[in-house]
Amino acid sequence: MSDNPTTPATPAGDAEAIGTTSTGTSITAAGTATATAERDVLVDARGVKVHFPIKRGVIFDKTVGYVYAVDGMDLQIRRGETYGLVGESGCGKSTFGRALLQLEELTEGEVDFDGVDLASLKGEALRKQRQHMQMVFQDPLGSLDPRQTVEQLLLEGMRAHNLVKGGGATERLAELLQAVGLPRAALNKYPHEFSGGQRQRVGIARALSVDPKLIVADEPVSALDVSVQAQVINLLEDLQEEFDLTYLVIAHDLAVVRHISDRVGVMYLGALVEEADADDLYARPLHPYTRALMSAVPVPDPKVEDTREQILLAGDLPSPANPPSGCRFHTRCPWRQETRCDTERPQLRVVEIDGVPSSQRVACHWAEQIASGELQPHEVSVELTDPTDIASDSNDGLFGPASVTEAG
Ligand SMILES: Nc1ncnc2c1ncn2[C@@H]1O[C@H](COP(=O)(O)OP(=O)(O)OP(=O)(O)O)[C@@H](O)[C@H]1O
Ligand code: SF4
Ligand SMILES: [Mg+2]
Repeated sequence: MSDNPTTPATPAGDAEAIGTTSTGTSITAAGTATATAERDVLVDARGVKVHFPIKRGVIFDKTVGYVYAVDGMDLQIRRGETYGLVGESGCGKSTFGRALLQLEELTEGEVDFDGVDLASLKGEALRKQRQHMQMVFQDPLGSLDPRQTVEQLLLEGMRAHNLVKGGGATERLAELLQAVGLPRAALNKYPHEFSGGQRQRVGIARALSVDPKLIVADEPVSALDVSVQAQVINLLEDLQEEFDLTYLVIAHDLAVVRHISDRVGVMYLGALVEEADADDLYARPLHPYTRALMSAVPVPDPKVEDTREQILLAGDLPSPANPPSGCRFHTRCPWRQETRCDTERPQLRVVEIDGVPSSQRVACHWAEQIASGELQPHEVSVELTDPTDIASDSNDGLFGPASVTEAG
């Protein structure tokens, strides 16, 4: 993809040749850089869409619409990095995480893992590749079989990938437990015998047991007490170095991913609206949605807290079964303009703003004018949606209760 910052398209002839291969192909400085960047990317998701059909009818399962849960995600995760993916409940974070692991069928798009298109793998080859991609869930109790001891739980995953050979298993189990900060005695216990934080440690040990390269941690601390959250986040950070891991950490809370993430992607209704190095994003959020999310994160310093920007998001997330046209955020955006916003879907792009690096990309037509202050925010007011709309009687939960229109 040409808009992929890690794999820039280099026009032929622009790059200076610096050598030749044995087959006579010239190697260019830019070409070498591109190859290095490609090697650097562990997960490359391009144009990923996951649409769930909405079925109706008792006898004939008629498809009456789709939930556009993921609707055009381009995202690369580099080896060894932690990518934080944030967004409101229902914006498609988990579906995207599952799609990366081929646990959801892609409606469109491609996911390359370690340079291999996962859709091209079947049977044993896919099973082998899956070993390298593990998931840690929000609710460890729900993801761990309550009838199995920790030892059985860990061995089950290892056996599935033929990793239990000879007599080394017990030693490996003890090492895993030590790595996640649990005593050896935990091996004989059942999930319900642990506290929430300890259970999450078991869940992490289980993911680690098959020696993965990527861990998708879906809201790994949302169900935990605040005091325990930091411990689990710190544990994930420590393990990353020790086990050479790459993380996708999913959260609805910007504060959770702030310290752990190298880069952060902000998702809104199925697609990224902003992506940047974590420090840049927190220092200068550019998309109106990111600014609104950020303004909801309290700051410990009372002086800063008093002066910081406060943007209240009007209305709920619109339904992914009936997403707004143009910019998906236009129904709630305080900077919405009469031209383009309602009709033209903005692409994630590098912006032309002094001091903003090319690694910070924003999907807003007016990012430059908003950043300069040329465009000022205006009021938005909430308006009820039309209840006669598609599927509203088949699944009320699919529809946001309100849409928002510009008041002034
Ligand atoms: N199997 C499915 N069939 C139909 N719709 C689904 C399915 N899975 C998810 N959805 C819908 O897709 C949308 C995105 O769901 P998803 O779980 O990915 O969101 P999320 O961002 O992870 O939310 P949360 O923060 O609440 O976990 C939601 O509207 C959800 O109801
Ligand atoms: S494109 Fe328009 S509606 Fe969308 S975020 Fe930018 S200003 Fe707001
Ligand atoms: Mg989720």
